Amino acid sequence: MAAAAPDDTMTALRGRVLLIVGGGIAAYKILELVRLLTAAHVDVRCVLTKAGTEFVTPFSLQALSGHPVHQELFSLTDEQEMGHIALSRSADLLVVAPATADLLAKMTVGLANDLASTLLLATDTPVLAAPAMNVRMWEHPATRANVATLKARGIEFIGPDEGVMACGEYGFGRLAEPPVLRDAILARLNIASPTSGSARPHTSSTMTCTRTETGSSCDIVPGGTVVRSSVETTVDGTTLWKPLLGRHALVTAGPTHEPIDPVRYLGNRSSGLQGYAIAEALAALGARVTLVSGPTNLLAPAGVTLRRVETALEMEQAVRDALPADIAVCAAAVADWRVTNAVTSKIKKSADTTPPSLHLVPNPDILAALSAPGPHRPSLVVGFAAETDDVEANAIAKRKRKGCDWIVANDVSVGTNVMGGTENTVLLITSDGVEHWPRMTKTDLALRLARRIARRFGAPALSADGDMN
Ligand code: CTP
Repeated sequence: MAAAAPDDTMTALRGRVLLIVGGGIAAYKILELVRLLTAAHVDVRCVLTKAGTEFVTPFSLQALSGHPVHQELFSLTDEQEMGHIALSRSADLLVVAPATADLLAKMTVGLANDLASTLLLATDTPVLAAPAMNVRMWEHPATRANVATLKARGIEFIGPDEGVMACGEYGFGRLAEPPVLRDAILARLNIASPTSGSARPHTSSTMTCTRTETGSSCDIVPGGTVVRSSVETTVDGTTLWKPLLGRHALVTAGPTHEPIDPVRYLGNRSSGLQGYAIAEALAALGARVTLVSGPTNLLAPAGVTLRRVETALEMEQAVRDALPADIAVCAAAVADWRVTNAVTSKIKKSADTTPPSLHLVPNPDILAALSAPGPHRPSLVVGFAAETDDVEANAIAKRKRKGCDWIVANDVSVGTNVMGGTENTVLLITSDGVEHWPRMTKTDLALRLARRIARRFGAPALSADGDMN
């Protein structure tokens, strides 16, 4: 059967996706995803697992993608045309959808016993996984652990959505809808969604976040009276406000640990909560987010690329690697000093009980470096100021000293319970002056800051934020 070319204007090609289709009832939605992607001028090559063939046929995928579908690990024809290593490396993005519990488990342990798992092991291309499975399977500790491991390795996840599943149960497990998947893929390929950029007026929005133990998702849905003209996408009649689509946001979070010996380090009380919430909120508004995090107990937020580091020097390097970015938010509590005489063997108490001397040198100031003028300076750099005295005056001085555009200042004195707590009271200091924000949860603060950032990139204000000036 001759495959129909999805588009004869190959010059308009805007990215290459290798789509691995797993075996789940949701696989039927993948046909629509392939159609949407090819319509957006994305070259889609499909790999169909054996289980996937129970739900969609290679012929349908071939007809919609315009390319032969790859199914076998050892296929003479395919090996002649393109080896499996080349197949995975020729793509800009690997998408696993539906990412079944079985595929996630294989990815976690590094199995390579069929074409899909071999490709996933052989690739150094970014991977986006869209899980779909029964809610009990999604919530099983084995799957939770697999997802956490994969996220820590930098695999991005989209969904699963909450709702009634084919098996009749209710909960998280539904494959994200094809237009949502299409937009997530286009964002990672740095392509604006075809439904984006409309300047049509629309009623206002409220941000709703669903957070569960197994994940979270945030979206802005219609509901008020403000006219807006930013990027919007429509999914099943619901308008999602994505004003940061196409923007790259870099967020630092958590503490850094500066080793003294293999068991001891210098550190601080930062939990990372605020930075993770900001990363999640920026992603919910459509940004592609890289989160560089010191040691925390937190899972990667939905749709965010997480780079875990330990020390300030590693954080500095990871931040440099993540550039260029349009937005940088430095929420990390970077240790000010590191130990130059750290040792690789545990320091033993000496007989005379003289404590060891630590030689400290200052760590690089990541925020100041990001804020310095240069070709890679993000167009908006936001710092945090953790202060215990004269919060406002110190934060204003800190903004000048570091050269950042905005400073979010918080009082971290004993009794405020900000460090490690779930709430925060901040001042936002910009070139226009000082805004006093009321006490709110770190999640709400993140959402408000993300909307404020979206405003800076052209989105109109929301009355809910009380900052309509
Ligand atoms: N910061 C950074 N790199 C450092 C130190 C701080 O990027 N080496 C960033 C933090 O992420 C935060 C801001 O600078 O956005 C302010 O951090 P803070 O701890 O309040 O200030 P310091 O620069 O450490 O100054 P001081 O301790 O004197 O208040």
